[in-house]
Amino acid sequence: MHRPDPSGTPAELAELRGEPPCRIRFADGKDHWVLSRHADVRAVLADPRISADDRRDGFPQLLPGAKPGELSFTRMDDPEHGRLRRMLTSEFSVPRVEAMRPTIEGVVDGLLDDLEKGGGPADLVRRFALPVPTLVICGLLGVPYGDHDFFQTRSAAILSSNPPEVAGPAFAEIAVYLDRLLTDKMREPKDDLLSRLAARVGHGELDYDEALGMARVLLIAGHETTANVLALSVLTLLSHPDQLAELRADPALARSAVAELLRFLTITQGPMARMALAPLEVGGVSVRAGDGVVMSLLSANRDERAFPEPDRLDLRRDPKFHVAFGFGPHQCLGQNLARIELEVALSRLFARFPGLALDRPVEELDLRADSVIYGVRELPVTW
Ligand code: HEM
Repeated sequence: MHRPDPSGTPAELAELRGEPPCRIRFADGKDHWVLSRHADVRAVLADPRISADDRRDGFPQLLPGAKPGELSFTRMDDPEHGRLRRMLTSEFSVPRVEAMRPTIEGVVDGLLDDLEKGGGPADLVRRFALPVPTLVICGLLGVPYGDHDFFQTRSAAILSSNPPEVAGPAFAEIAVYLDRLLTDKMREPKDDLLSRLAARVGHGELDYDEALGMARVLLIAGHETTANVLALSVLTLLSHPDQLAELRADPALARSAVAELLRFLTITQGPMARMALAPLEVGGVSVRAGDGVVMSLLSANRDERAFPEPDRLDLRRDPKFHVAFGFGPHQCLGQNLARIELEVALSRLFARFPGLALDRPVEELDLRADSVIYGVRELPVTW
């Protein structure tokens, strides 16, 4: 993934979009179809002939950390997927996350107070972008925030394209940690999501291992993703001062600004894998049953057929059909929460620090170009 600048996209993706879908050899040694156009990606993600079950023979194995079957309902098909996902949908519904807005505002304001007191320069990733979603997901799940160093480093190891010898043990360590925590919640339930899962295990609605798999996915997906979008959004806005000025002048723009930043940055830059269960036509080619299909959400979100001038950041664009959260049955469960976190964090950060500026030349920033999830490892700022 060679991005020409922090928010640019690899030239190869635009080339791919100009051609019909083709097959490319991936790290698992197999050839899979690659879809790069917005319409093709959305069509396939919503197609019932397409499977997300990574336990199937021939499914593209492209994430080095987790073994097949370890990513719970995110890598299952309906009805198994729907049964587990439905146990969580109310936890992440718009009313539920809207009710969390005051808590999120409190978390953001507290971190901004600490930042101000500590004085600059400061690393905005460590001091703000990572703690905001981590504190929120810890509160929701009932995971002690004091353990954040432990699970943040492991999650980052899984979501950076590390070799299996690094990512595998990191995943296993998180599993052991959550196993202990869930056992505690079974014995001594509190008012949190993991305790509610533990109660379902007690009532026989859910196996213990199923609950554990769900906990793993929620903890890993719930902080690392939003943290990267947040840090990259700050970097992007600082390098688009005209757009930042519009956002500052009109706080009501925050909602559409977040949607556009999600589209523009598309941090889930790694290949998104599926497998065809039956023959289908897509983008003018015939995919056979058993073929692996790999999608680029990054490319789809920069497709000129779907978004005019796709490489221009336009906070007023309101890109309704972007695929930064995926599409179809597996569309991001935590998207409402992520949106609110980003809206609150960006609005309050820029309101509090009108003079916020980078404290290092952009060219010297350490970008996660090699990761499944894009991001910036450190963001030194002054104000
Ligand atoms: C801005 C931040 C986020 C981005 C860009 C993002 C992106 C995505 C994407 C692209 C998918 C689809 C994966 C696929 O189809 O294979 C997904 C699924 C998922 N996300 Fe997020 N996500 C974010 C935040 C969150 C948060 C805060 C949570 C909270 C726990 C979360 C939980 C999940 C879960 C559980 C799934 C799997 C849903 C399913 O398979 O039914 N995500 N996310």
